[in-house]
Amino acid sequence: MNIYIIGAATTKFGELWGVSPRRLAHQAVTDALSDAEMKPSGIEALFVGNMLSGMLGGQEHLGAFFAEELGLSVPAFKIEGACASGGLALHNAVNSVLSGQYRTVAVLGVEKMTDHKPEDVAAALMGAGSEGERLSGATFPGLYALIARVHMATYGTTEKELASVAVKNHYHASLNPNAQFHAPVTIEQVLKSPCVADPLKLLDCSPISDGAAAVIITSDPSASLRAGKKAVEIIASVAATDSLGLAQRVSLTKLQATETAGKNAYQKAGIEPKDIDVAEVHDCFSIAEILAMEDLGFYKKGNAASVVSRGETTLGIARRLVVNPSGGLKGCGHPVGATGVKQVVELVDQLLGRSGKRQVDGAKIGLAHNVGGSGATATVHILKI
Ligand code: COA
Repeated sequence: MNIYIIGAATTKFGELWGVSPRRLAHQAVTDALSDAEMKPSGIEALFVGNMLSGMLGGQEHLGAFFAEELGLSVPAFKIEGACASGGLALHNAVNSVLSGQYRTVAVLGVEKMTDHKPEDVAAALMGAGSEGERLSGATFPGLYALIARVHMATYGTTEKELASVAVKNHYHASLNPNAQFHAPVTIEQVLKSPCVADPLKLLDCSPISDGAAAVIITSDPSASLRAGKKAVEIIASVAATDSLGLAQRVSLTKLQATETAGKNAYQKAGIEPKDIDVAEVHDCFSIAEILAMEDLGFYKKGNAASVVSRGETTLGIARRLVVNPSGGLKGCGHPVGATGVKQVVELVDQLLGRSGKRQVDGAKIGLAHNVGGSGATATVHILKI
């Protein structure tokens, strides 16, 4: 059975004061339905990716909550996997359609982070870490800073190379009307920005964001033709896990869950890393994009940082693979439960050739990579037109 994405939409990401999660969800799903040229009555189930609504907003029971809000009287499920909640929601939606239980379902990723005190957001995000990490006061910038230090010591990766990830992704975000940040930044600006957790500076970090994204998936091969579009097919949907805590990992220079999910996804899709034209990878911190490039098999361990700093994955310069044309989590924003769905919306737009100034010419195969915590969950989706 083949799975097609027939509608895809994202809200603007950013500090959206005064916009409720209800409004964000409504806009994303309504726009995705309109993209699919279908009515809400065509949806048989709803999958919601969200991480923080219970801890920050006091609202759980999000499946029924958003089904009611959207006027959908259908089975509805909240899927939580930290910052990979969106990717996991899509993975579960794909499985439900593959099982034959439903034919056409909606996937919503939604998060509202900015209405809360920064210390409450940081503590809630650490719900994705291990007990030992929480009790010792670790934060996610701190954990990724440790990973960065080990990568630098092992492969000679430099702070300047890390900064080049932020420079690329802020440049891409400057071309994306829905991104949180629109001003390009320079290497010097990144290096001079305040230190958050040595060696990571403010501009090495993804921000605190609000936003929602939605896709409509179906096993009906004629649905996208009815909506007047070519069919975007999901040719692999894979999830993997690893230990929650860094102390239990065999290696700190790779995320094993990413490597496992990537390998399984390539096998399912019958392709190799070199076949990917465009990738949206999980750059929650600049070091995270470097790890992703290596763990997904695009570049050898220790080589990705210099590739990025030479501009080889930048729009307009890249000859084979453009990475994070949306601006990534760094420039586009990271409303955690929405990110994994937004990555897939970006790929749909790229494969349909409707990405405007940030279009990757001739993109035919795209990969979305979403990570939860410091790598305890990873999902990989491969899309093809
Ligand atoms: N990238 C670029 N600019 C950022 C930014 C980021 N990550 N975070 C904040 N800014 C900007 C703000 O827009 C603001 O600009 P302005 O003064 O022009 O309005 C300025 O920097 C200060 O913002 P502020 O909100 O005071 O920053 P902060 O110090 O409270 O938070 C971080 C900065 C990096 C600590 C916060 O964004 C963070 O915790 N990020 C990581 C989130 C995370 O862990 N996600 C999960 C990943 S696993």
